[in-house]
Amino acid sequence: MDYTQRINQCLDKVLSNQGSLTEAMRYSVLCGGKRFRPILTYTVADTFGANLDQVDSSACAVELIHAYSLIHDDLPAMDDDDIRHNQPACHKRFGEAQAILTGDGLQALAFEVLASDNQLSAVVRIDMLQALTQAAFEMAEGQSIDLGVVSKIIDVNTLKDMHQKKTGALLSCAVKMGALISDCNAKDSQALMHFAKNIGLAYQIQDDVLDVLTPEEVLGKKQNSDAEKNKPTYPALLGLEASKVEYENLYRQARNNLQALSVDTEKLQALTQKLQSRRF
Ligand code: IPE
Ligand code: IPE
Ligand code: MG
Ligand code: MG
Ligand code: MG
Repeated sequence: MDYTQRINQCLDKVLSNQGSLTEAMRYSVLCGGKRFRPILTYTVADTFGANLDQVDSSACAVELIHAYSLIHDDLPAMDDDDIRHNQPACHKRFGEAQAILTGDGLQALAFEVLASDNQLSAVVRIDMLQALTQAAFEMAEGQSIDLGVVSKIIDVNTLKDMHQKKTGALLSCAVKMGALISDCNAKDSQALMHFAKNIGLAYQIQDDVLDVLTPEEVLGKKQNSDAEKNKPTYPALLGLEASKVEYENLYRQARNNLQALSVDTEKLQALTQKLQSRRF
């Protein structure tokens, strides 16, 4: 079973009985998504020889936070986007109030899944909960910056900080979860964090580029949504070509970071290549 099948099975199980929120949660989580965050967690843990049964809860938790962030991101008060994963956004299907609550519920469930995993020691669980809490907070802060700078001229450092927070933080957390389960040494852990920071920023720059280049039927969400809303993005600030060069450099640096690891990095190298060549 590959990581995508594994995470999909875990999410299906976790989302089987959430009372009145079950339908909207399942609609938003199970109907699409590339699952790159949980795949990162599994790949890091696997690279260090961890037992994957112990990885399921953190893999689910990062994806649940991500799914919640997308539901809220699409709301009329935020990006006001109607399509996600090639289907009506959660608020278009269930109404705004239910979409807000679905996001709230997914966030709470993420922490519940992790906190109640008794396959993990209490110490590891607390470290993971702390990492996830920090990342969820940073994501919210990044989103707050994002909405605060609409129609404003900002410099590239502000943009970079915003991207690191709104998207990089959770991707870094996904990597950190894998490292925490594996109990890898300090040197490996540090190299992994450099790797995570580079792919985290690259991922959002690439998302900005894909927003310009990719048609809706491939992207699964509206094309040119950023420009329409006057969002300061990498393509808006630096142009498309320079933005591509920027994220390709970051992925290259990420692959270099992997070379410092004391273990076989083939799977992580392949995953980084897959991220870099994604088309949606
Ligand atoms: C989209 O993330 C929003 C960002 C934070 C860049 P993804 O492109 O990973 O979303 P899905 O889950 O695969 O749709
Ligand atoms: C979203 O960034 C980042 C989140 C934390 C959800 P975007 O607003 O660019 O994501 P998309 O393009 O709508 O998926
Ligand atoms: Mg947004
Ligand atoms: Mg958006
Ligand atoms: Mg985007």
